[in-house]
Amino acid sequence: MYREFYRLREAPFNVTSDPAFLYLSPTHMEALDHLRYGIEQRKGFLAITGEIGAGKTTLCRALINRLDSRTRVALILNAVLPEIQLLDAIAEDFGIVPARHTKGALVRAINRFLLEQLSQGNNAVLIIDEAQNMRPSALETVRMLSNLETEKEKLLQIVLVGQPQLKEKLDLPELVQLKQRIAVRFHVRALSEQEVACYIKHRLTVAGAPGELVFMEGAIQAIHLYTGGIPRLINILADKALLRGFVKETFIMDVDHIRTCIKELEGETET
Ligand SMILES: Nc1ncnc2c1ncn2[C@@H]1O[C@H](COP(=O)(O)OP(=O)(O)OP(=O)(O)O)[C@@H](O)[C@H]1O
Ligand SMILES: [Mg+2]
Repeated sequence: MYREFYRLREAPFNVTSDPAFLYLSPTHMEALDHLRYGIEQRKGFLAITGEIGAGKTTLCRALINRLDSRTRVALILNAVLPEIQLLDAIAEDFGIVPARHTKGALVRAINRFLLEQLSQGNNAVLIIDEAQNMRPSALETVRMLSNLETEKEKLLQIVLVGQPQLKEKLDLPELVQLKQRIAVRFHVRALSEQEVACYIKHRLTVAGAPGELVFMEGAIQAIHLYTGGIPRLINILADKALLRGFVKETFIMDVDHIRTCIKELEGETET
């Protein structure tokens, strides 16, 4: 709606995880480094946690873009699947056609695929997003897939990505074996005030925003305070700010402007 007014090529604050807008804040960069290290060193289990909207799915996509062609990847976005459907989804993502859709046949087909990859010098990664929603039985099945190993390394690297409840789930007594196997962990933290400023600037630049369009220091402070540095909330508020800015025909986002937007988002009808 406001794109033409601000001469933007694209909407800068969409709430999708478009890799073109990726901003590698220190915490996102560190998360990626941990993931790449764990995968390249074939560490087996890796766990990434972070608050709702902190950028975990965005990280998964960024990771996939950064893995080399010798790394085969399966990405599971629907973690609530029951065991067989989960195995089916994993097989399908790896391009495996199982003989039958039973648990045994699927596990054998996946294991065969992993051995083939090993013989070709390839690595294999299974990324499970929203892993906090997985059933304990599904987590246990995934652990069994990770059992295949040589003397030195794991054949399948498994990345569990989830909200902080994932940590609690991994504390369940029946999952102690899995928990012990997690070799790399990282918690994606929220952005600092300075990082919020860089984040907003980055997204505006990618969207082709002109130099006159600015978020003032006070505005950044108010955004940081309201959103707690959570990217999805920043996007929602910044999008609102641009929409209101367009209505008011201004290129300057100052603290009062942001405060009014916050009130509007909170449902107080002041304009
Ligand atoms: N590093 C980043 N660079 C650019 N945009 C980001 C970054 N991190 C998050 N975002 C943006 O924030 C929004 C939420 O990110 P994302 O969906 O990755 O969060 P999430 O942690 O997976 O959330 P949930 O817990 O709900 O699954 C998206 O619009 C995404 O584009
Ligand atoms: Mg997500």
